[in-house]
Amino acid sequence: MSYDAHTHLDAHTHLDAGDARHDHDANSARLPELLDLDAQVLGAYLPAVTAWIATHVADVRTILDLGAGTGVGSVALAERFPAAQVLALERSPAMIDRLTAASRDHGLAGRVRLVPADLDEPWPDLAPADLIWASSALHEVADPARVLRAVRAGLRLGGVAVVIEMVGLPNLLPDDVGSGRPGLEARCHTALAAAGWNGYPDWAPALEAAGLDVVEQRRFPAEVGPGTLRAEEYARASLRHQRVALADALAAEDLATLDRLLADHGPDSLLSGSRLTVRGSRIAWLARRP
Ligand SMILES: C[S@@+](CC[C@H](N)C(=O)[O-])C[C@H]1O[C@@H](n2cnc3c(N)ncnc32)[C@H](O)[C@@H]1O
Repeated sequence: MSYDAHTHLDAHTHLDAGDARHDHDANSARLPELLDLDAQVLGAYLPAVTAWIATHVADVRTILDLGAGTGVGSVALAERFPAAQVLALERSPAMIDRLTAASRDHGLAGRVRLVPADLDEPWPDLAPADLIWASSALHEVADPARVLRAVRAGLRLGGVAVVIEMVGLPNLLPDDVGSGRPGLEARCHTALAAAGWNGYPDWAPALEAAGLDVVEQRRFPAEVGPGTLRAEEYARASLRHQRVALADALAAEDLATLDRLLADHGPDSLLSGSRLTVRGSRIAWLARRP
């Protein structure tokens, strides 16, 4: 997701040692928690997207979740399609640990099966899928066109592929945070986009080029208001994550403002759960194997 640890680390390979490297490694280690917090706060898109998919494909028995991360999509898909087996393809050991725990905690260990796999390598032999889901993952692979050809080959005739991306990074702050120059969050997001965070194209032409028929493209906006469980935790984790990535990319004044926001824990803090509104939006492409 935004939280493109890999892209981000690649963009900073000039760092060889010391605090910066340590910060970046810590950022990478915190990614699983951030993905889970994102699902807890902005996860309304999960039942909405899976309900939409269910209107497009029947008799779903086999689902692949590509780059499954901590398994938020795998679990939502298993819950939506009770007759289905979900195969969660993931290569990161830290994600795999969490995914395994998540499927067990949801009582889905029998139906959500981890398949350790690198999507950039030839895939393991799997049963033809009725549905293949790739959420915030396609933009991370080395060769998306090759992966989409494998998606087509992995689908049964009439099966569907769903590609999901975050429209942008979540909005956590008002334009004017009361100190520093207005527009802080916009400048953060611009700098992170320039560093390659959450960068993806319109996937429709790539899906068509892989031999899939794009059926529909839809946005799933979400807004949660003050009092939302774990929203403050999410906002703080997200801004801390961004702060590490922005250390070399933002003016000193903006970094100082971010630090002040993160340091302020009082009830009047802009990040206080009783004040915080979080907005985020997903975009999804649904395509069918003809
Ligand atoms: C931003 S996370 C999204 C996770 C999950 N799909 C979600 O929506 O919360 C991207 C995931 O793709 C995985 N990933 C990236 N490239 C991969 C590859 N080549 N093979 C397998 N997994 C990959 C990462 O390890 C990470 O877990």
